[in-house]
Amino acid sequence: MPSPSRWPELRAGLVLIGGLAAVPLALAADDAQQMARGKALFTQTQPACAVCHTLAAAGSEGQVGPVLDELKPDAERVRKVLRAGLGAMPSFADKLSAADIEALAVFVSRASGGAPRSP
Ligand code: HEC
Repeated sequence: MPSPSRWPELRAGLVLIGGLAAVPLALAADDAQQMARGKALFTQTQPACAVCHTLAAAGSEGQVGPVLDELKPDAERVRKVLRAGLGAMPSFADKLSAADIEALAVFVSRASGGAPRSP
């Protein structure tokens, strides 16, 4: 039995453990949210990624840019092209928030197979 003077520490420990157990759940929910948001942005951003790119998971068949299902870009590659643009692809830095860019990076890399399904 811990001495009574250690109760506050013990309680703090339990709160910490409870908090840690909630993290994987929160991450999973966050992940699903990122995927849904990224998918919506893929077809709704102006100009839409879908107009220029083929990505099966988004049901798009654009022919202007590379087929993302074949390119399989990782998240960092998606972030980079969205911020800076590349060749005929415009930069989206002034159209998308940092959170939007992140959601697209997660969605495009996962959906195309450029990133493993679980981190
Ligand atoms: C106007 C057409 C157009 C639109 C809209 C467009 N892209 Fe692109 N994208 C391109 C072209 C063209 C390239 C190839 C650029 C090159 O390699 O010179 C490209 C390249 C890419 C690449 C590969 C970058 C690399 O490192 O090779 C990714 C990833 C990508 N686009 C994602 C997106 C996403 C996500 C969106 C929507 C936010 C989007 N694109 C919107 C035309 C477009």
